[in-house]
Amino acid sequence: MSNKRILLIIGGGIAAYKCLELIRRLREQGVATRTVLTKAATHFVTPLSVGALSNEAVLTNLFNLNEEREIGHIRLSREADLIVVAPATADLLAKMAGGHANDLASTVLMATNKPVLAAPAMNPHMWLHPATQRNVAQLERDGVTIVGPDVGEMAERDEAGPGRLIEIPTLVETITTALAISPTRSGSNTSTSKKAKGSLAGRHVLITAGPTHEPIDPVRYIANRSSGKQGYAIAAAARDAGANVTLISGPVTLADPDDITVRHIETAQEMLEATKAALPADIAIFTAAVADWRVDGKTNSKIKKKKSGAPDLSLIENPDILKTVAKKRKGRPTLVIGFAAETDAVVKFGTKKLKAKGADWIVANDVSATTGIMGGDRNTVHLITSNGVEDWPDMAKEDVAKRIITQAAKTLSARIKAGSK
Ligand SMILES: Cc1cc2nc3c(=O)[nH]c(=O)nc-3n(C[C@H](O)[C@H](O)[C@H](O)COP(=O)(O)O)c2cc1C
Repeated sequence: MSNKRILLIIGGGIAAYKCLELIRRLREQGVATRTVLTKAATHFVTPLSVGALSNEAVLTNLFNLNEEREIGHIRLSREADLIVVAPATADLLAKMAGGHANDLASTVLMATNKPVLAAPAMNPHMWLHPATQRNVAQLERDGVTIVGPDVGEMAERDEAGPGRLIEIPTLVETITTALAISPTRSGSNTSTSKKAKGSLAGRHVLITAGPTHEPIDPVRYIANRSSGKQGYAIAAAARDAGANVTLISGPVTLADPDDITVRHIETAQEMLEATKAALPADIAIFTAAVADWRVDGKTNSKIKKKKSGAPDLSLIENPDILKTVAKKRKGRPTLVIGFAAETDAVVKFGTKKLKAKGADWIVANDVSATTGIMGGDRNTVHLITSNGVEDWPDMAKEDVAKRIITQAAKTLSARIKAGSK
């Protein structure tokens, strides 16, 4: 058992009830949880149920003489090894980013000298609101680790998108990793239960694969011909090398590989959110053919044919997922690998992409129609690094995958050794 302790701050969101499961799972790992509930959180879970599960005092009020005598807000903020805010409401994120200290939760967060991890959960519109995004970016700059949110169906049944609290097993894993405890797993749906041997044993590899679909209206979308085969093959090769693998997949017709955590998404924005939620990772490999543009605005009705001709579709740029991760100042994966699918001047454009995106490697390939690479089973790639260009022969996608993983494992281990000196 670990003797570790966290302070859990539960915000007033619909996902607050999931924290009961979180407390239980953490207890199984030997992690003690002391809890602060915001006033709003007490509408969603009771101090009694939280206290019964954690077997610890539950605190709610900054100006409660008994609570302050019992532990005091400063001690509370310092005694834990880690502070976890879950669910982190839009309101709590705003308070944290703005440095407010007007209730027990926000005061503790201001007074702490311990690492803070926040798991946001809210309606997708609240999450994507520029104010929330601004606050999250500020918190990341301040050193707060943001985990999630997940993409998927929300409590409001007609809403789907980024905003779901990250799955509890994933949150437990993130917390135990932050506390440097090896998690003992029971019945989890993630791949980490398999303690494998191999060149990537114990490492987390994040891979994106497939196309994205960008809706035009409820029945039409912009897509591309990516099959996801190369990304899925890399995910399997990383798993076989002993890694814990998270595969973030656009719409493909491939079956989910065994022993890999697969997150299914449709749009580029969802892929970005799922990618952020899956971090931290040791290696991130971006094979997905992410649509560069999406249609500006949203329509809930099918666009009707008009006598006057085609509709005016205005396109806006999608987020650049590779660049966002490769240029992260905190929590950047040790090795970031991008893919460049080109039809002309493959190596020239690949080399340009290496610099522009801040990636460590670019795997460039020629996807002109005559090559049959898009959707096919073979691939001819050029590995572009700061050391130059390796031209690999034509190979099965599985063999390209194995070679990438073998080289990536070597580079990772060299970088870790160099970093620990
Ligand atoms: C039914 C209901 C569900 C809510 N769910 C959420 C949520 O999931 N995420 C969120 O950020 N706010 C949610 N809110 C709004 C917060 O409860 C509100 O902003 C509150 O002031 C948050 O306080 P706190 O940040 O101190 O916990 C919800 C409100 C209601 C009434």
